[in-house]
Amino acid sequence: MKLLLETLSNKQGLPTPIWFMRQAGRYLPEYLELRKTTPNFLDFCYDPKKACEAALQPLRRFDLDASILFSDILVIPHALGQEVTFEKNIGPKLKPITKIEDLKSLRKNESILNPIFETVSNIKHNLKDHQALIGFSGSPWTLACYMINGQGSRDYANVREIALKDPNFFDYLMNTLIEIICNYLSQQIQAGAEVIQLFDSWAGVLSEKLFLKYSLEPNKKIIAYLKNRHPQIPIIGFPKGVGQNILEFTNQTQADAVGLDSSFSINWINQNLNHTVTQGNLDNISLLVGGEQMEQDIINIKKIKSPHIFNLGHGILPTTPIKNVEKMIEMVKGII
Ligand code: CP3
Repeated sequence: MKLLLETLSNKQGLPTPIWFMRQAGRYLPEYLELRKTTPNFLDFCYDPKKACEAALQPLRRFDLDASILFSDILVIPHALGQEVTFEKNIGPKLKPITKIEDLKSLRKNESILNPIFETVSNIKHNLKDHQALIGFSGSPWTLACYMINGQGSRDYANVREIALKDPNFFDYLMNTLIEIICNYLSQQIQAGAEVIQLFDSWAGVLSEKLFLKYSLEPNKKIIAYLKNRHPQIPIIGFPKGVGQNILEFTNQTQADAVGLDSSFSINWINQNLNHTVTQGNLDNISLLVGGEQMEQDIINIKKIKSPHIFNLGHGILPTTPIKNVEKMIEMVKGII
């Protein structure tokens, strides 16, 4: 039995499954060793053997209920023809596109994504019977943020400005992204992904109006497409930072579960999402600091009444001590 899949089907009374965002990555010394062998991060993501190994590393150390595909959300802008690089201590850098001509002049090459489907299949063949494989994509709005701004930002003010000033360009970009994401996720499923997570990491910077148009609607379309083509595959939506708009998102998108960032109180979750499968919401800084305050947070999260998937509110940070991760998993599994 796969605990994650059972929980996603809204089954009550089961033990809580656990996996965590960025469970493969820089807090693991074995990841840092492996990464050194391919300095260019995208090349690393497109290497089905190394990416598979990176995905499996956390499962060798910890008793987790899922593996997540090792890749990055920015492979989609790359496949659309945009230049994407990752710079040490800065993060991703893209050559920004700011108007419809920029987008139309890109040379799309979806076949660069093919090694990723091979990674999916490699991981799947190495999982234990109780472990599920999660595929993922960035959502259109979050990808548009990086594509237009060219790098991270606190509020993506310029992207929101373009969304309002040039809806023609913006809608064209959204539709382009929806189409490629639907294909990409469908191929991940065909290669063996059993669950899909949509990361809308920057949904929280949007006004109510733009949230409905550029986060909720595109996620809804992608989910409808996947539900039609792969009705048995559960989908986790993660519109980060949207506060109570998570309710509208849940009701309208038909996602099987929603990821919760760390801003939600357990009381609020129990009052407002008691018929929804939820995932999250341990503060990644609480995990990094550890100790009694973390234990209290975990005890609290265990009070969520509806079927719940234990996870963080955002990805694990590179300086997180491994012993804190071990403690978190033991507590969730009820060993201590
Ligand atoms: O274990 C996993 O969770 C699977 C792999 C995964 C990565 N990125 C690997 C990665 C996943 C699911 C992602 C998603 C991702 N990537 C998101 C959405 C989730 C979120 O964090 O909000 C976003 C916004 C990105 C874009 C991205 N990729 C940034 C901003 C950065 C640089 C900042 C950072 O944390 O390093 C990356 C690089 C990246 N993606 C690394 C890893 C392991 C580090 C690269 C390295 O090894 O040097």
